[in-house]
Amino acid sequence: MNVKTRAWRGGLAAIWLLISSAGYADTTTNAQITVHSDRPGAIIHPEIYGQFAEQLGRGIYGGIWVGENSPIPNIKGYRKDVVEALKAIKVPVIRWPGGCFADQYDWRDGIGARDKRPVRMNASWGGEDSNQFGTHEFMDFAALIGAKTYLSINVGTGSPREMSQWIEYITADGHSTLASERRANGRDKPWKLDYVGIGNEMWGCGGSMRAQFYADVYRLYATFVHASASAPIVRIASGANADDVGWTDTVMSIAGSQVDAISLHNYTIPTGSWSHKGSATQFGEDEWMATLQGALHMDDLITKHSAVMDKYDPKKRVGLAVDEWGNWMDQDPGADQPALYQQNSLRDALSAAITLDIFQAHADRVHMANIAQMVNVLQAMILTDKSRMVLTPTYYVFDMYKVFQGATYLPVDVQVPTYRYGNASVPSIHATAGRDAAGVVHVALVNLDPHHAETVHMTLPGVNESNVHGRVLTAPAINAINTFDLPEQVKPAAFGGATLKHGMVTAVLPPKSVVVLDLH
Ligand code: AHR
Repeated sequence: MNVKTRAWRGGLAAIWLLISSAGYADTTTNAQITVHSDRPGAIIHPEIYGQFAEQLGRGIYGGIWVGENSPIPNIKGYRKDVVEALKAIKVPVIRWPGGCFADQYDWRDGIGARDKRPVRMNASWGGEDSNQFGTHEFMDFAALIGAKTYLSINVGTGSPREMSQWIEYITADGHSTLASERRANGRDKPWKLDYVGIGNEMWGCGGSMRAQFYADVYRLYATFVHASASAPIVRIASGANADDVGWTDTVMSIAGSQVDAISLHNYTIPTGSWSHKGSATQFGEDEWMATLQGALHMDDLITKHSAVMDKYDPKKRVGLAVDEWGNWMDQDPGADQPALYQQNSLRDALSAAITLDIFQAHADRVHMANIAQMVNVLQAMILTDKSRMVLTPTYYVFDMYKVFQGATYLPVDVQVPTYRYGNASVPSIHATAGRDAAGVVHVALVNLDPHHAETVHMTLPGVNESNVHGRVLTAPAINAINTFDLPEQVKPAAFGGATLKHGMVTAVLPPKSVVVLDLH
């Protein structure tokens, strides 16, 4: 596409409140998008907006759980500010307790009187775990924020018996000894357990297994996941690391009939090197581009794993659960920083948005995804420091995109300019769309180009709405962040840059921005 643009003169995020398409009349970029509202696709599983909370660093302790006697305002021990923030983005499902931690976790350590619970070494991530946050605390936390429950089962150092007893403890009605123990520990009714993951990263920290061996182990464990027809439990096989389609092939071929979903883990490391991953805040346009390219690789991964799954499951009964994904940067500097703590910038927001776009485009296969992680760990929604809390740019993308949860996916065709940096290039504009249960069409547009505004012309056959409004997330700098002292540097604002006339939307996207439009 022959594209000529004029550099955008940056400004404060608040300026976006004032702009209209006329403000960019000299932007000659011409992105064409068609939203096929006349060709509806699959339902977007709300669970692709799921999250992951591991017992590590300040992910749970200090981030979610402070205990009932804490001076930090809390609801029965859970931070009130964090609970309210998570409720606001409608978290559909939480995966817990790991991660690598899960394959060393003994569920019995985390039940009963809190002052009697053992303190264990956290062999995966360092430090100790007081077990103050255990099964009751997790299940009640999920209920408090309205999320489904996803337990990672200990396969590496556990046993099928421990797993089946844990499940019975949680889900049994009636008078079994385990149900009675749960009642004695303060919970009368069984909880709803929605998902179990049979081990985590079994090729690595979960037990260094080969795929054939794991596939048989999976069959063994899956046999002892007892659930009733009225309270089914989705069984998720521990899946591949990134491109390893051989793992998916083997597990599907040996265990596919007992698998309800298989997982996939993929992290973007800006430099591509685990020994020096890159700073979460001090980076240039090279690492901006590399991170966005890393996020876009998710499309390739899902396409490849899904093609392998198609061989065994052409009707797509088995879901792909991308139950760990996100950006993994160097831990923030500072002696007292907890494990895997990293700041979160506008770059994280845009890479989250384009990853969610990819999940939606594969709505027929991707049944769940869990960003790593929820609070204070990796690409977090929320950061906390003692009594203070800050919502990250990634949080705001989840907030803007929550309208897509449960919507019907609308296929999108894009013809867009290319954004280039050095020898690297990506499409500058990314789009996704869905129609919600009330009939409202929502369209998300992302402009990855940090220098140029882009004018998008969007046709929507079959859409007769006449009003468009939306929100925009952007900031003056690619590495803009929210801090405890300045928590509102990167925050959505009302978007005045879109018009809807004769079934066509024209939107002027600021550089490095995410826009979500609602058509009424
Ligand atoms: O999310 C951090 C870690 O990354 C998880 O514990 C593990 O599963 C993955 O390698």
